[in-house]
Amino acid sequence: MDQLKLGKSKVYSSRIIYGCMRLNDRNSSHEKVNADRLIKEVYNSGVNHFDLADIYGTGECESIFSKSLKNNSSFRDKIILTGKCGIVLKNQNRDTKYYDLSFDHIVKSVEGSLSRLRTDYLDFLLLHRPDYLLDPEEISRAFDSLKESGKVRYFGVSNFSVSQILMLEKYLNESLNVCQIEINLKNLESYTNGILDLCLQHNISPQAWSPLAVLNNVLNKNLSEIQYKNVIKELYIQSKKYGCDPEAILLAWLLKHPSKIFPVIGSTQISRIKKCISSLKVEYLKEDWYRILEKRNGIEVP
Ligand SMILES: NC(=O)c1ccc[n+]([C@@H]2O[C@H](COP(=O)([O-])OP(=O)(O)OC[C@H]3O[C@@H](n4cnc5c(N)ncnc54)[C@H](OP(=O)(O)O)[C@@H]3O)[C@@H](O)[C@H]2O)c1
Repeated sequence: MDQLKLGKSKVYSSRIIYGCMRLNDRNSSHEKVNADRLIKEVYNSGVNHFDLADIYGTGECESIFSKSLKNNSSFRDKIILTGKCGIVLKNQNRDTKYYDLSFDHIVKSVEGSLSRLRTDYLDFLLLHRPDYLLDPEEISRAFDSLKESGKVRYFGVSNFSVSQILMLEKYLNESLNVCQIEINLKNLESYTNGILDLCLQHNISPQAWSPLAVLNNVLNKNLSEIQYKNVIKELYIQSKKYGCDPEAILLAWLLKHPSKIFPVIGSTQISRIKKCISSLKVEYLKEDWYRILEKRNGIEVP
């Protein structure tokens, strides 16, 4: 599979990233996930980059992933591991969910992730969500400390706005290489809110979370039932035209943007993951891109 450099880092990632948020789940066929087998098959299909976070399964997803690292001693060196921190979940002793990007929280969160993963370093650490009360000087100190100790190689953000990224960059010694955001046919804000433009301008690699969202049939306020049906119909029409599956069209649609979006897919079914990977072979036409946009918006562009 094609590999591309992530942002200003020296790391080459497969264009498709595997998201490990559902490793402790049952899939849409209600089967318990065989995580070790899944991770192996995903890797053998050409994916070398795995996305995690301290909160996935309240830490369980990292522990599950660590078994694959333990079962194969050379695996760690062959893959890229991204971790995230900054969300504090409710638990028995805490009745409020909140965000925390303080020095202490960032450093402790990374140490917790490394211990659950049983590895010495993360390739990338992303700030999961912007803490309303973030102090950029503390974040800068935390990044410097994690870099110096070798616990994190490179840094990035997730769900940050353009102004939050610009502000943070003023304070950091480390560069931001990655910006992970929701991009799918339910949520196209990034095409117009300036974030993809900023990624191009600052050499930050955008990563799209929940890229398949429209296929799982869960509607939201951004997509009416009629828009949803028209999009799905068009995906099937185009999949016949290109001789691939609708998943491949959906991802080809994301891959088309010049900022070089890296989709982070979270399916737990290897057959679906392979359909997604086949998107890399689709030579997708601009006209078809706009046709999907038109079906999605229910109106042609002005
Ligand atoms: N930074 C952030 O704030 C953030 C937020 C959310 C997620 N993420 C990252 O992004 C990754 C991907 O997120 P995601 O799992 O929501 O993305 P996704 O790949 O868009 O969706 C996967 C889910 O949709 C289901 N699905 C896909 N196609 C389907 C179909 N045709 N019919 C029925 N179900 C279908 C999958 O079921 P099967 O498993 O059965 O295929 C799975 O539950 C996560 O693992 C995580 O790493 C980041």
